[in-house]
Amino acid sequence: MDSLTTVAVIFSYVLSLLRISMALDTIIVNQPITDGETITSAGGSFELGFFNPGNSKNRYLGIWYKKASKKPVVWVANRESPLTDSSGVLKVTQPGILVLVNGTNGILWNSTSSRSAQDPNAQLLDSGNLIMRNGNDSDPENSLWQSFDYPCDTLLPGMKFGWNRVTGLDRHLSSWRSADDPSKGNFTYGIDLSGFPQLLLKNGLAVAFRPGPWNGIRFSGIPQLTINPVYSYEFVSNEKEIYFMYHLVNSSVVMRNVLTPDGYSRRFTWTDQKNEWSLYSTAQRDDCDTYAICGVNGICKINESPKCECMKGFRPKIQSNWDMADWSNGCIRSTRLDCQKGDGFEKYSGVKLPDTQSSWFNESMNLKECASLCLSNCSCTAYANSDIRGAGSGCLLWFGGLIDIRDFTQNGQEFYVRMAASELGMDFSFSYLRNINLIQIS
Ligand SMILES: *[C@@H]1O[C@H](CO)[C@@H](O)[C@H](O)[C@H]1NC(C)=O
Ligand SMILES: *[C@@H]1O[C@H](CO)[C@@H](O)[C@H](O)[C@H]1NC(C)=O
Ligand SMILES: *[C@@H]1O[C@H](CO)[C@@H](O)[C@H](O)[C@H]1NC(C)=O
Ligand SMILES: *[C@@H]1O[C@H](CO)[C@@H](O)[C@H](O)[C@H]1NC(C)=O
Ligand SMILES: *[C@@H]1O[C@H](CO)[C@@H](O)[C@H](O)[C@H]1NC(C)=O
Ligand SMILES: *[C@@H]1O[C@H](CO)[C@@H](O)[C@H](O)[C@H]1NC(C)=O
Ligand SMILES: *[C@@H]1O[C@H](CO)[C@@H](O)[C@H](O)[C@H]1NC(C)=O
Repeated sequence: MDSLTTVAVIFSYVLSLLRISMALDTIIVNQPITDGETITSAGGSFELGFFNPGNSKNRYLGIWYKKASKKPVVWVANRESPLTDSSGVLKVTQPGILVLVNGTNGILWNSTSSRSAQDPNAQLLDSGNLIMRNGNDSDPENSLWQSFDYPCDTLLPGMKFGWNRVTGLDRHLSSWRSADDPSKGNFTYGIDLSGFPQLLLKNGLAVAFRPGPWNGIRFSGIPQLTINPVYSYEFVSNEKEIYFMYHLVNSSVVMRNVLTPDGYSRRFTWTDQKNEWSLYSTAQRDDCDTYAICGVNGICKINESPKCECMKGFRPKIQSNWDMADWSNGCIRSTRLDCQKGDGFEKYSGVKLPDTQSSWFNESMNLKECASLCLSNCSCTAYANSDIRGAGSGCLLWFGGLIDIRDFTQNGQEFYVRMAASELGMDFSFSYLRNINLIQIS
């Protein structure tokens, strides 16, 4: 051994000692991660490093479950800019950003930060969150950047699924293109803020599935979201933020929620004993969950044949299409509304609320105020409570056609559709106030 080699051997030995003496869940300045090296979260749940997805030869920097079988990837940094070789290096740079470079120092991906830190370092938490912190402050709320703010296709327990209204940060899921390609695919899933906020799953710009608005208990279109032994959940909405979040009840059951490349929102669970992932639930349950399958003013009933019906007082817009099971043109009113003489409302129970993209809402009004407000505006077509907890509260108004309503056997809710008085068997001379009384009776 010549002296130079000896020095090199000693140097690398000292370096490896240094790495052992450091936390193995942290990347610090001047100590990058190269392809082949990984860091592991303190509890051993998650690992960060380079991988190639499926049959792809491309290399990506990602985070995956370390203990669970198949080690599913939950987050990818350079999903749109893959490495074609194993020259990737992830480093922490001043004043506190993560940079992924290739063999020629080309930047493939970097984190962002609006603040700077004196002692920046990146730590992989046991929640699966990679945070850029200052010193030893491991509170994600104080972090300069966190991977939980930039979800890919996976929603992990403790991740906020929704918006920071102050900064405009929209934490939504986007599907992988395929099992071999983590670049953004056709589907996105997140909270839509036009009208009364609701969850939408989109294929490109088109809505594919609509879990709908939060009604205080669950999303209107996901009746199976109920209290269960595996996970708890919350929905937070205030001036600063609006998000959905779930937590594991028993940490020995691991759960992840994935938006699959073919556009399904699925929950998978894993336990030590079983050591395999099993499908826990799928948000979309049947054909009636296909967005607007029955067209405008139609209602989908999964146990009926045909499954599409027009709402009461409506008839197919194009009967011949309807007869051939093409419901896309929807339904029109059998009797025109007469706002001046007075209209009334038909009550629907056990349903998923219509699309709220162009709705109006006021969360401090009651149902009676809501009814009279709808009646006083000739373009208002339906109303409902925005929150169904207790006796119900809040007011939600729809204008124009009602889209994507379906019937549920359980956990559906109520809403009221404007109808011509004659359709309701009301006298045309009924006054405005009498209409209000009728609403109370129904
Ligand atoms: C490294 O990345 C840069 C910028 O993305 C790119 O132009 C260059 O071709 C890459 N080099 C290699 C060896 O892949
Ligand atoms: C990091 O990447 C973003 C794009 O994602 C870019 O706008 C920004 O300038 C980059 N910042 C640095 C310091 O490279
Ligand atoms: C972080 O570092 C400060 C100062 O070095 C020390 O006082 C504190 O105990 C440390 N906190 C943790 C959680 O290690
Ligand atoms: C958590 O789940 C494990 C395995 O299913 C079980 O043995 C344990 O009793 C559970 N703990 C609690 C607090 O429910
Ligand atoms: C995604 O969209 C493209 C273009 O519309 C289509 O060719 C492809 O089959 C779609 N992929 C999936 C998984 O739906
Ligand atoms: C909402 O309704 C309450 C009670 O009727 C009213 O005081 C308030 O001004 C309304 N807010 C808006 C934005 O219309
Ligand atoms: C009815 O409501 C719509 C939508 O909020 C609004 O644009 C319109 O001005 C209202 N009309 C009346 C007469 O209040």
